[in-house]
Amino acid sequence: MQNQKMWEGRFKKALDSKVNDFNSSISFDKRMYKEDITGSMAHAAMLGRQGIIPKEDSDLIIKTLGEILNDIETGALDFDPNAEDIHMFIEAVLTERIGDAGKRLHTARSRNDQVALDTRMYVRNYYCEIKASLLKLIAVIEKKAEMHLESVMPGYTHLQRAQPVTFAHYIMAYAQMLMRDVTRLEDTLKRMNYLPLGSGALATTTYPIDRQSVADALGFDGVMLNSMDGVSDRDFLLEGAADLSITMMHLSRFSEEIILWCSSEFGFIELDDAFSTGSSIMPQKKNPDIAELVRGKTGRVYGSLTTLLTMMKGLPLAYNKDMQEDKEAIFDALDNTSLCIELFTSMFDTMTVKTQNLRRAAAKGFINATDCADYLVKKGLPFRDAYKITGRLIAYCIDNDKTLENLSIEEYKSFCETFDNEVYGAVDLMNCVNGRKVIGGPAPEAVRLQLEDCKKFLSARQ
Ligand code: ARG
Repeated sequence: MQNQKMWEGRFKKALDSKVNDFNSSISFDKRMYKEDITGSMAHAAMLGRQGIIPKEDSDLIIKTLGEILNDIETGALDFDPNAEDIHMFIEAVLTERIGDAGKRLHTARSRNDQVALDTRMYVRNYYCEIKASLLKLIAVIEKKAEMHLESVMPGYTHLQRAQPVTFAHYIMAYAQMLMRDVTRLEDTLKRMNYLPLGSGALATTTYPIDRQSVADALGFDGVMLNSMDGVSDRDFLLEGAADLSITMMHLSRFSEEIILWCSSEFGFIELDDAFSTGSSIMPQKKNPDIAELVRGKTGRVYGSLTTLLTMMKGLPLAYNKDMQEDKEAIFDALDNTSLCIELFTSMFDTMTVKTQNLRRAAAKGFINATDCADYLVKKGLPFRDAYKITGRLIAYCIDNDKTLENLSIEEYKSFCETFDNEVYGAVDLMNCVNGRKVIGGPAPEAVRLQLEDCKKFLSARQ
């Protein structure tokens, strides 16, 4: 019932209990207790330094806040579900413990700049954690790629076998995407790292506060220069949610590959037993539930982004209570993205790649047809003729269940006299891959460059 006390000067009636529940955010903002306490400690220290409150009070506040933090973490202090929010709760406990000194903490501060600060610090930390788990996933992909530089497989367009690549090249495409995701988070972190505290309710304060010293104490690169922006900016959540949505989109595409690859139709990989599930009725089944859930949860993260964008679009400056809705959206996006990256990483790390099947699919797919036509061109035929002859050859192979690699030279010659034994080198799948050695290509020597670049990216962030 601390809420009534806080406002009792102005109000004659207690808050309706349903309104109290409707208004309260403690059930979800309690997770920011550490940021709230750390922020308050820095604020109290500054108030003491500036002579805005007595030094003894400032010291006592900081010491007691430390004890409250400890009590929350050891479980000695429970959150009060009736408190309006985490900020009110911590302040109430502080005041309960040290009386008047505790009541001085909120000098030159509003919950509007306080919540802006706490949320910023909480997500700053979480963005860094997500970045770290993305780096782990990239390292796992890189490691697997090193083992599959020569594992030839079909690359697809329209999900139809198209040209030969290697498993290393294929999965390193995802490493590239995830590396961009990391730099996107880094950009967001850079842009958001300015202190909102000191903005007050919306128009700062007449007390001689020192914002820069608080920014330094809390690891910010500077202070926000407009107080109205300071309390109403939620760009740092929108950007984060957009970053996470893009990451989830990448993971979802990758999951889709995994789901296809572990089907009997593809048979390119096998998931570890610990990362797949069975069916309650069909004993033969081994389902890629994790990959499907990652794909499924992607929609949920997009939902958070949409929630945040919609919440903000009609709000006049400065703070509006609508903004309390920001937390559940961003927390859900963060929790789910983090979980998905972690599980995807272990699932990917433990899966087995069936290189024989990759190779078989590559041979069956006639993905060396372009190379066969190019071979005839090198022997002097015009490309259009070479293209037609190769087309007929392929039709013959399909009818007779053969591949370009295992046709006899007599069979080749029956389509065109120009063929000689060199054709076997030209249609050899590994040769086809090796020939594509320009920067960005699937040839092992080109993929090695990608791996080197990726390793540099990772070691620069260790
Ligand atoms: N729980 C509130 C929120 O999350 C804190 C700020 C409240 N400020 C106010 N003026 N009612 O947004």
